[in-house]
Amino acid sequence: MSEWNRFPEIVSAKGMWLYDSKGGKMLDGVASMWCNVWGHSKPELVSEIIKQTKTLQHCPLFNLTHPAAEKLSKKLLKLNPKMSSVFFSDNGSTAMEISIKIALQYWRNIGENKKTNIATLENGYHGDTFGAMSIGYVPEFFSKFRSKLFSTIQFPVPRTFGISKKMSFEEYEEQCLSKIETKLEKDDSIAAFVMESGAQMAGGVIIYPKDFQKKISKICKKNNVLFVLDEIATGFGRLGSMIEYDAQKSIPDVVSFGKMLTGGYQTFAATLTRKKISDSFLDEFSKMKHLFHGHTYTGNPTAAALSLKNLELYEKYGLIEKIQKTSEVFENRIEELSCLDMVGDIRHKGMVMGIELIRDKKSNKPLTSKLSINKLVFEEGRKNNIYFRTLGNIIMLVPPLAISKKDLNFLIDGTISTIKSLSRKLR
Ligand SMILES: Cc1ncc(COP(=O)(O)O)c(C=O)c1O
Repeated sequence: MSEWNRFPEIVSAKGMWLYDSKGGKMLDGVASMWCNVWGHSKPELVSEIIKQTKTLQHCPLFNLTHPAAEKLSKKLLKLNPKMSSVFFSDNGSTAMEISIKIALQYWRNIGENKKTNIATLENGYHGDTFGAMSIGYVPEFFSKFRSKLFSTIQFPVPRTFGISKKMSFEEYEEQCLSKIETKLEKDDSIAAFVMESGAQMAGGVIIYPKDFQKKISKICKKNNVLFVLDEIATGFGRLGSMIEYDAQKSIPDVVSFGKMLTGGYQTFAATLTRKKISDSFLDEFSKMKHLFHGHTYTGNPTAAALSLKNLELYEKYGLIEKIQKTSEVFENRIEELSCLDMVGDIRHKGMVMGIELIRDKKSNKPLTSKLSINKLVFEEGRKNNIYFRTLGNIIMLVPPLAISKKDLNFLIDGTISTIKSLSRKLR
């Protein structure tokens, strides 16, 4: 932290642009931490916030309900027809805490007391609270807390880099799946398998190979293990599909959404479950089968009304089709980016690109520096009017989903200039 003197102070934002107190501007290449959909200050969303706040600004979902929560639940279930109930919360980490509590309690509710363990993929990220840290595990972020995290059973994730040269990628993927299958067949203590849907984002944009997720969902089903998905960063269009598990043909038992749900304008999240799960929580009070979980702002009406409006706009503006077209810009420019000496690997899908920085093509070693690479990239990016936030040595391009082709080209031009000047600086 001591490397940063003072953070730029952002005083306003409009469309794709952030404006600072010194008169500078940056294109938002981070989509407000991966959640912004339409760009900033979208009039329809801003008026919805004002309208709902004037009517009912907060009403907890403890013994009560309200129209915004009711309507939004219906909308979410329409988008997820295989799901039957919705549990609201106020950020992605808590949505994942709720997912694991639901999954663990489900087995208690139906009288299966042996199922207490959770399986996950290595390198996953599900948030920064203790339960979420336990089911994820990015060593850089969590190692200081390891002794206080609950243990999980972790399996390797197929990735295109850093694997033994003795094996093809297909063989490696097969090995990953076979490890999962063998363990789940043998170990009946596993309550749930938890993974990010479509790709691991914070783990470095690890995009799963075709059918990988589908095969895991089948292994779970065959072995009586709940399949729990995290669509917080990847659902609602980030990877080019409205509902990523649909695209992956892998129906979960429990799934969580957050980030893009409100368009990136307020904090909100939802955890959806299939009927057999939600039904298990229904009984007489004395049976104690209900879920003891609630946050002060659970189901906040302003955030709920805003989310509903946001999801309506996806249809009104045909956003998913637009993303698929705009994302061609990423594809068309991969070659140009790959030629840069400092670029080791590029992973792209929909509206996300991960650019892995290496020292140079000759050594092919990851870029390291005594200084924070995040800060170096941020500062160079700022000179090119781009807001970057890297993860280790990976530059993440995560623009607002509705970005135009022109602005996306600006982002990529700025990325190329940033990498070039970084390479001059570090030589
Ligand atoms: C896949 C995934 N799950 C959960 C979270 C946690 O969400 P939040 O930051 O809203 O707590 C994140 C945040 O980046 C995420 O990427």
